[in-house]
Amino acid sequence: MALFTRHSGAPSTAAGPAPAVAGAVANGRAAAGASGEGQAIEARDLVRRFGTIDAVRGVSFEVAQGETFGFLGPNGAGKSTTISMLCTLLNPTSGVAKVAGYDVVAQRAEVRKRIGLVFQDTTLDDYLTAQENLRFHAELYGVARSQTGPRIDDVLQMVGLVDRRDSVVRTFSGGMKRRLEIARGLLHSPRVLFLDEPTVGLDPQTRAHIWGYIDELRTREAITIFLTTHYMEEAEHCDRIAIIDEGRIVVEDSPARLKASVGQDRVEISTADDAAAIAALRGHFSLDAAMSEGVVAFYVAQGEVFVPRLFAELGVPIQSVSVARPTLDDVFMNYTGRTIRDAEASGSERMAASAWIRARRR
Ligand SMILES: Nc1ncnc2c1ncn2[C@@H]1O[C@H](COP(=O)(O)OP(=O)(O)OP(=O)(O)O)[C@@H](O)[C@H]1O
Ligand SMILES: [Mg+2]
Repeated sequence: MALFTRHSGAPSTAAGPAPAVAGAVANGRAAAGASGEGQAIEARDLVRRFGTIDAVRGVSFEVAQGETFGFLGPNGAGKSTTISMLCTLLNPTSGVAKVAGYDVVAQRAEVRKRIGLVFQDTTLDDYLTAQENLRFHAELYGVARSQTGPRIDDVLQMVGLVDRRDSVVRTFSGGMKRRLEIARGLLHSPRVLFLDEPTVGLDPQTRAHIWGYIDELRTREAITIFLTTHYMEEAEHCDRIAIIDEGRIVVEDSPARLKASVGQDRVEISTADDAAAIAALRGHFSLDAAMSEGVVAFYVAQGEVFVPRLFAELGVPIQSVSVARPTLDDVFMNYTGRTIRDAEASGSERMAASAWIRARRR
């Protein structure tokens, strides 16, 4: 029996096939997963309530072995709560999930042996050295004595902390602590690594550095990675992402396909007569253009195809042109009606943002 049913009503666009919406899975991997075979993670209708708070409201998804899958969503969306359920730290209120083929409630010990977890908040022992932290973890996870030394060397090498193995963690920078936590999560060679906001609070350079390690890890070890983030650029590293908002998956697909699903490129031109250009865009091309930060801006399906026509047919001399592909910001906006920053700020701006996106779609 298929685990998931495909929802109808996914927005189809000229730019590409519609992404999976609200718990449905659209790509080929999902077909293999329908039998439950070979999936690193399977979640079906996971719900978690805290008193009156509905933290997770029925999320379903599958992650194939070797895939890097991300939950992208604002504060309070339910990302950490989902990770806690998958890592057996929190029981679901309802729904089921399997990790590495084992049920997260009924086969907790089996799941725990096969996962590595890097929490959102640091859990290193500040007063121990890097190596002592790793040894402690190795004992906790029953790594064979003969394996512990070489494995510690290996993971410290991977995150570039070999030289600091005997330093007390208290003396580490935020980025070094994060790298050590990732090393610790990898120590017992887990099949699935959970990273909850792996680079939150770090400067962009350190974030890029940590992503360098994670990307290398993906090529070196046969590992499945499930991560949560509210950084758009971090989500770009994932094979697939699910946008989660208010406890629900709004849409899931590869970053490229999600961006394609927005379907519109932003074109900006400056001209000899902007008012005449706006009138010509409306009259000749039926496009709604507006002045934006000193240039004429509008949206079209395929900017690079449209631009030659524009030069040939606008009838107003064009001085400069730029075409920008949709970003994941545009994707989030498209599917939730607001930016991730608005979502984090408050719900009060939602109405205005929705009105803006409706206007943009017209
Ligand atoms: N132990 C708890 N008791 C009560 N409410 C909780 C608990 N844990 C989480 N919540 C609530 O559940 C909702 C989802 O929280 P969660 O930590 O999963 O969000 P998140 O997506 O990880 O957010 P962030 O990006 O801020 O880490 C929030 O409203 C939060 O207040
Ligand atoms: Mg969280």
